[in-house]
Amino acid sequence: MKKNAVNATLLSLLSVTTFALTTSAQATEAKQTQATTQSANQKMRFDPRNEKFESDHPEQYQSWKDTSKSKHITDALKNDPNMVVLWAGYGFAKDYNAPRGHFYAVTDVRETLRTGGPKDAKSGPMPMACWSCKGPDVPRVIDERGEDGYFEGKWARLGAQIVNPIGCADCHDTQSDDFKKGKPALRVARPYGKRAMDTIGRPFEKQDRFGQQSQVCGQCHVEYYFQKDKKNAVKFPWDNGVTVDEMEAYYDKIGFSDWTHAVSKTPMLKAQHPEYETWQLGIHGKNNVACVDCHMPKVKNKDGKVYTDHKVGNPFDRFDDTCAQCHTQDKKTMMNIVKSRKDKVQEMKLLAEKQIVAAHFEAKAAWDAGATPAEMKDILLDIRHAQWRWDYAIASHGVHMHAPEVALRVLGTAVDRATDARTKLIRLLAKKGITDPVKIPDISTKEAAQKALGMDMKGMNQEKQDFLKTVVPEWDKEAKKREASYPQ
Ligand code: HEC
Ligand code: HEC
Ligand code: HEC
Ligand code: HEC
Repeated sequence: MKKNAVNATLLSLLSVTTFALTTSAQATEAKQTQATTQSANQKMRFDPRNEKFESDHPEQYQSWKDTSKSKHITDALKNDPNMVVLWAGYGFAKDYNAPRGHFYAVTDVRETLRTGGPKDAKSGPMPMACWSCKGPDVPRVIDERGEDGYFEGKWARLGAQIVNPIGCADCHDTQSDDFKKGKPALRVARPYGKRAMDTIGRPFEKQDRFGQQSQVCGQCHVEYYFQKDKKNAVKFPWDNGVTVDEMEAYYDKIGFSDWTHAVSKTPMLKAQHPEYETWQLGIHGKNNVACVDCHMPKVKNKDGKVYTDHKVGNPFDRFDDTCAQCHTQDKKTMMNIVKSRKDKVQEMKLLAEKQIVAAHFEAKAAWDAGATPAEMKDILLDIRHAQWRWDYAIASHGVHMHAPEVALRVLGTAVDRATDARTKLIRLLAKKGITDPVKIPDISTKEAAQKALGMDMKGMNQEKQDFLKTVVPEWDKEAKKREASYPQ
């Protein structure tokens, strides 16, 4: 352990020196590629190629590859068009699917309309940070170029670099002797993820085995934001803690907003997917039942040897290896309990949406009637808080299982903040002479809602198709060439 730590420090010093030298020589992309090849030849600390580990670890590899079986795409906006309005003016209103298998992480971020159709390395709309939870090329590039060298610029800049989906080197120190011998050698590969764990007093090195197992998931399944003054580098907003109130206070204090709402002009927050946070607040997290206990159970191969099943998916698909390891109830009972919680969370979610959607349109009516920024200030703060709370609860996938009481309380507070906003709005509208209810356009389907917001979906889809046909094959070609130069 100690020896490894020393080695790691030495190696990171080495790579920092290489990086400093190249920047002082005013590094061009070409030079960086050169440095990349050099460090690859010295020793690859993050080998991103998942196939490379198949021969040493066939069961883990095969079960990892089985995440490709979870291929169904669920269009979340189609199922709930309110969300188009809630995210008006932001990428998520264009396109938002429920998560599927880890195997598809790179495919999906390329294909979503949110990343647009960049034509070259400099065109937008998204920053580099959007690659950060997609696979082991991310820690590799950070290792080679430093965090600034990774984060700077637009998403398309390093499209040819980030090509392997979530895999071995994201969770394991794949180059260690322990790993080669078949031990887990877990690691949190992203430096900003490690720092965040330190911030909440849970440094990775000081965690027990279960704590470490959950933190490898927690480097991605969390709330995060892009620091606009630091090249859009990713940070988890955990300085005050991980509850909805603590993160809200953090964002308010630094005056952060992800975007300005297209209808109500509110400075908004977008919650990402705070699963690690809500899990720790729930009954299983409090009892240190790890993500892995349910999502990556220990199973036996045909010779009776125990290994970890790497097909991260729905634990109910393998009830005997997951829930039944600790609980005596049968599968149907357990599924019914979870289903009834899901229904209750869903009910509260829709109630909150009804109020927040109305508040956005009423705020627009107030602006249109001549309301001043001073008159709107408190109202917009209520809308911001209401929607942040709604989002924290619903973007936390599986929350009805992980922490249903947290979800219900948070959604309750979302309704409360939205009601505050609407009470103030009714008074303000009356002051401006508007006493009739504010009309809400047809938002009954995804298409209707996008039309009501004046979104050019045809143009966006065309741009995306062009990008997939012209730019992406070039990225893949370049990546193949690079990987051919990696040590075998
Ligand atoms: C999302 C994180 C994650 C990914 C991706 C991942 N692993 Fe694992 N792996 C784990 C966890 C968690 C364990 C169990 C750790 C423990 O038992 O403490 C584990 C255990 C292992 C072990 C130890 C033996 C065992 O089965 O328990 C090996 C070997 C292994 N993984 C290989 C791989 C290989 C090869 C890949 C890529 C094809 C891979 N892992 C991808 C998280 C991951
Ligand atoms: C490198 C970042 C990363 C790590 C590490 C990671 N995930 Fe994921 N996970 C994602 C992304 C991104 C998706 C969505 C992929 C998509 O839809 O294309 C996802 C999807 C999932 C899904 C949905 C799968 C499905 O078939 O519907 C589950 C469940 C999940 N992750 C659990 C875990 C658990 C448990 C761990 C830790 C053992 C973990 N993840 C580690 C990024 C990560
Ligand atoms: C006690 C078991 C348990 C633990 C611990 C647990 N999960 Fe889950 N998780 C589930 C179940 C069960 C579901 C699916 C619920 C359903 O079927 O509606 C789920 C759903 C999910 C989903 C949504 C998948 C989808 O396709 O919508 C993600 C993502 C996820 N879990 C990640 C995690 C992460 C990350 C951790 C740890 C921080 C974790 N889970 C801890 C049982 C667990
Ligand atoms: C590693 C052990 C472990 C696994 C695996 C596990 N649980 Fe639990 N579960 C616990 C513990 C510990 C508690 C808390 C018990 C207590 O406080 O009495 C708990 C409590 C519960 C409760 C009651 C608490 C509440 O929320 O009302 C439910 C329901 C539950 N688990 C469902 C599940 C389901 C469903 C799965 C599989 C997806 C699962 N558990 C997997 C250990 C586990």
